Amino acid sequence: MAETRLIHGDALEWMPKLEPNSIQLIFADPPYNLSGSGFLTCKGGRPVECNKGQWDQVDNLHEFNRRWVAECVRVLAEDGTLWISGTLHNHPSIGMVLKELGLWIINDLIWYKPNATPLLQRNRLAPSTELIWIASKSKKYYFNYELAKQLNGGKQMRNLWTIPAEKHQTDHPAEKPESLLTRILLIASREGDWVLDPFMGSGTTGVVAKRLERHFIGIEIDDHYFTTAIQRIQETPASPF
Ligand SMILES: C[S@@+](CC[C@H](N)C(=O)[O-])C[C@H]1O[C@@H](n2cnc3c(N)ncnc32)[C@H](O)[C@@H]1O
Repeated sequence: MAETRLIHGDALEWMPKLEPNSIQLIFADPPYNLSGSGFLTCKGGRPVECNKGQWDQVDNLHEFNRRWVAECVRVLAEDGTLWISGTLHNHPSIGMVLKELGLWIINDLIWYKPNATPLLQRNRLAPSTELIWIASKSKKYYFNYELAKQLNGGKQMRNLWTIPAEKHQTDHPAEKPESLLTRILLIASREGDWVLDPFMGSGTTGVVAKRLERHFIGIEIDDHYFTTAIQRIQETPASPF
């Protein structure tokens, strides 16, 4: 039976307490610093400035990224992989940090959302993608190439994934689709491996880890989202196998 450990607190405080080299797969969906950038989004059919919450505003984003990514490197297994999602607001900073910390960058993966929210301003292209860095400590990392190919109808899987945004299960504004996490966990971990999500939000990674029989550690700072994640993961049936 897969174990689930949910931690309510700051990832910068709690990650140093985790065992070194103990995690096979880290999926991190950190604050993007998107709020307050002047983007208009659509709420209840009306244009409003994008504000995902206080959690999305970090004072010194690059320093913050350097600190938590360094902890990811410490806890990541020698053959583990680190997957970090973002947008143009934090993607360059994360890329710099990965280079500074000497990680091996495996891929830049583009998640294309064909049904992304339409753009209300008429001054740029409609953002329809998120970017995911995939990195490891060494060139010998676990990656299930054959399964990825199988999931792609027998053809080599490319670094452009078309996955529609799903109807949210919770009120978290940045909830990721379960199908995105399912694909990542299947390709980059095995049953019984440990998966860490240091910015757990509504618990999507935990839900998928439980279904796929992976052990899971999730950290979330916000009271409401932490409670949401606990409830969501508890209500998820474990794998029947
Ligand atoms: C982009 S959201 C993650 C959404 C998640 N992937 C999901 O599917 O619901 C980032 C989350 O990180 C949390 N967070 C921000 N700073 C944090 C920190 N220092 N430690 C732990 N959690 C933090 C926020 O409260 C927010 O819920």
